[in-house]
Amino acid sequence: MSRIALVSAMHEELAAVLARMPDEQKTVVAGREFWVGHWHGHEVVAVLSRIGKVAAATTTTALIEHFGVSRIVFTGVAGGLAPHVNVGDVVVAREFIQHDMDASPLFPRHEVPLTGMTRFLADSALSDVLAIVAPLALKDMLTALPQSEWLNLDLANSQVHQGLIASGDRFVSQNLESQALQRELPDALAVEMECAAMAQVCHDYGVPLAAVRTISDRADDAAHVDFPRFIQSIASRYSVAVLNRLLVALPI
Ligand code: ADE
Repeated sequence: MSRIALVSAMHEELAAVLARMPDEQKTVVAGREFWVGHWHGHEVVAVLSRIGKVAAATTTTALIEHFGVSRIVFTGVAGGLAPHVNVGDVVVAREFIQHDMDASPLFPRHEVPLTGMTRFLADSALSDVLAIVAPLALKDMLTALPQSEWLNLDLANSQVHQGLIASGDRFVSQNLESQALQRELPDALAVEMECAAMAQVCHDYGVPLAAVRTISDRADDAAHVDFPRFIQSIASRYSVAVLNRLLVALPI
């Protein structure tokens, strides 16, 4: 049976995932707690990515080398970059880029040295399923969450986007920085701190990766306020809803 890695960015998300796994067993590797068990008949390994590109790359390597996972699914939050990507929306990744990779003039801007690549692809089959289940999961979550907990967001009109996610070792929390990123990468939908590094590792090992990110903030001057509020109230509920739908949809 193939093992699916469920990688979460936040403790709240991991706790919600573990609550759905009746038989999880903990193993510690590289200082990280990996939880092996089952969910909807799939053998899964749940773990926190940790924050930042190197930490996430280490977690990904351990998942592949130590736990032999055949697919990796990441859930978490991101800052909205493109003007039409709002707080409460969802982004299903199709491509990843490291926005802070710059070995120029030795290599072109954003190219990962010695790979010839600037962008790494999400697995198309997994991402297709995520794109189908994401709107259903949004509905599931909103049905279960009283409107008083919607943080005054227009969640009933949340959109699911698909496209480029940019990763870098910075929490983007200034309008100027967010605007600079938008100018540099006009098709980037969202910014976060892990997935492009995970995609590089997955590419090296030939392991499929898919990612879904809920937009917690607009990576602007208000990001530091929006981010914790969103995480506490909404993010982990959405992650569990989307994983629940995904695992039901994937054949065992
Ligand atoms: N994750 C969620 N919001 C983010 C932001 N504004 N910058 C980087 N990573 C994020």
